[in-house]
Amino acid sequence: MKPEIAEILEWDPVIRADFISIFIGALIDTGLSRTVYGCRTDNSLVIKIERDDYYKQNVAEWLIWDHVAHNEKYSKWFAPCEWLSPNGRVLLQKRTFPIETLPKRLPSYLGDQKPENFGLYKGRVVCHDYGMLWGILNCALK
Ligand SMILES: Nc1ncnc2c1ncn2[C@@H]1O[C@H](COP(=O)(O)OP(=O)(O)O)[C@@H](O)[C@H]1O
Ligand SMILES: [Mg+2]
Repeated sequence: MKPEIAEILEWDPVIRADFISIFIGALIDTGLSRTVYGCRTDNSLVIKIERDDYYKQNVAEWLIWDHVAHNEKYSKWFAPCEWLSPNGRVLLQKRTFPIETLPKRLPSYLGDQKPENFGLYKGRVVCHDYGMLWGILNCALK
């Protein structure tokens, strides 16, 4: 941890709360291991907070995005990731909007194909919950 951050953590918890309040917007939804909020400083983003350090879905999503980002054939199916915190517990991802029905055909490597794992982004359907797909994608995208 950077010394300046360690120092801030020693200060009054009210200051920590203030810092958090600057960035965290409204609660969007809660999943298996993450709670997702809007971002007050950039409403094109969501803040995905991994509630404990067991699943590491934020890290997996970040690695998957990094793997596909430069290949449009694959990247068009994923909500882009913008930033991962040094300890992996906070992820900034592009915000998607809920969909009720999925397209008839989706790539099989997108795993569990239920509407809540997908959203609308820039007019197309993308997967926004892909933190469990690391194993499948590692094989499929080679
Ligand atoms: N990029 C996003 N934009 C908008 N809503 C999202 C985004 N990612 C997740 N969500 C919402 O938050 C919920 C929980 O996030 P999810 O990625 O599914 O977490 P978990 O992996 O813990 O299940 C999703 O079901 C969805 O409703
Ligand atoms: Mg989920």
